[in-house]
Amino acid sequence: MEIADFEALLTPAGREALDAAAASDVSERALLATASRLRSRYPAELVGAALGQVRLRARAAAKFGPDAARMYFTPQGLEQSTRASVAAHRAARFAEFTGGAGAVLELCCGVGADLVFRARAGVEGTGVDRDPLTVAVASANLAAFGVDGLARARVGDALDQDPAGFAAVFADPGRRTARGRVFDPRAYEPPLDALLEIASRAPAGCVKVAPGIPHEAVPEGACAEWISDEGEVKEAAIWLGGLARGPARRATLLRGGLTHTLDPDPAPSTPPVRPWGRYLYEPDGAVIRAHLVGEAAALVEGGLADPRIAYITSDVLKETPFTAAYEVHEVIPFSVKRLKAALRAHGVGVLTLKKRGFAADLDRLHRDLRPACASGSAAGTVVLTRVGDSPVALLCAKPKR
Ligand SMILES: C[S@@+](CC[C@H](N)C(=O)[O-])C[C@H]1O[C@@H](n2cnc3c(N)ncnc32)[C@H](O)[C@@H]1O
Repeated sequence: MEIADFEALLTPAGREALDAAAASDVSERALLATASRLRSRYPAELVGAALGQVRLRARAAAKFGPDAARMYFTPQGLEQSTRASVAAHRAARFAEFTGGAGAVLELCCGVGADLVFRARAGVEGTGVDRDPLTVAVASANLAAFGVDGLARARVGDALDQDPAGFAAVFADPGRRTARGRVFDPRAYEPPLDALLEIASRAPAGCVKVAPGIPHEAVPEGACAEWISDEGEVKEAAIWLGGLARGPARRATLLRGGLTHTLDPDPAPSTPPVRPWGRYLYEPDGAVIRAHLVGEAAALVEGGLADPRIAYITSDVLKETPFTAAYEVHEVIPFSVKRLKAALRAHGVGVLTLKKRGFAADLDRLHRDLRPACASGSAAGTVVLTRVGDSPVALLCAKPKR
């Protein structure tokens, strides 16, 4: 998309075309007909931009809910943007820190999701991005939420910014290239070290990173937070300076509008290694990434069947947001034949497979096991893992509470 095409959408005629596109069928099937109908009323470039924007908004609803309908995106900007739940969680922490006084300098602001959510939480700010179209989109988003008086976006290179005068720095580097996702923090755009250096010159800071960030990459004195949203790990954040209050690592789970945090035990102990019990607990990915499996095991009075694999087992059923509980019906040394017999015996008709520490093609195994589920109706989960070198399958179901 050219910047002029995007800016045309913000004119009165552009807004009218956007409204008309939003009220039309933009599904693949109807797109050509919708476009030709709209072209009889608006210039072709405007129709193209409006339809593109409406389709991006539809995709964005998964991240931003109903707010997506008034936001603006580029395909890449949407892909890289922080989802609403996470952006709101982080914004609240900045709002508490600044207390309504002091602005945040955002390096690599993208289409402005974090910038908007902080401004909506009352935090002043300036976002900087090197891409002019992305900056135009971020500015339109600030205006769409009526917070353009509190925050603004401008074109610039993150590495040239001086944090002097700002209360805090937030940075969200690019972690995707044309070749796909980037895992090495030195290959982020800009590299993590450079952003940490700029952020460390402000009274406080936060840098968003990939959840796979090695723990050694977290600087001394910083707090690393791994965040999952509705059970899926989304990102990690490294909090610095005045915002690095709390433990060195934390798992934050955002679930159904609630926030649950798990911190390291001040006197950590290694979870006991024990035989499989009546229950199996699968820790949330943020708990695993934050190396807090021992803490989660303690919450359910459990241990590990294999000390290297993050499946917790226990004899008691405990309610905690940090793990998903399963009741274990059978523990079977792995064999397709024995597994099929167990599925038939338990009348399983709806099968879910999970694995950890077990090399298997789950799609293929699912196909192989399907005949054994043909006459069953119960829901069952087969957990494939190993204890030492022995592969094992646990036939489980959601516990009855
Ligand atoms: C992950 S996105 C930011 C997403 C943003 N937090 C949001 O929620 O919308 C990263 C952005 O960094 C920008 N970027 C990469 N290198 C940059 C640099 N050296 N200076 C400024 N911006 C840069 C890219 O243009 C991209 O928009």
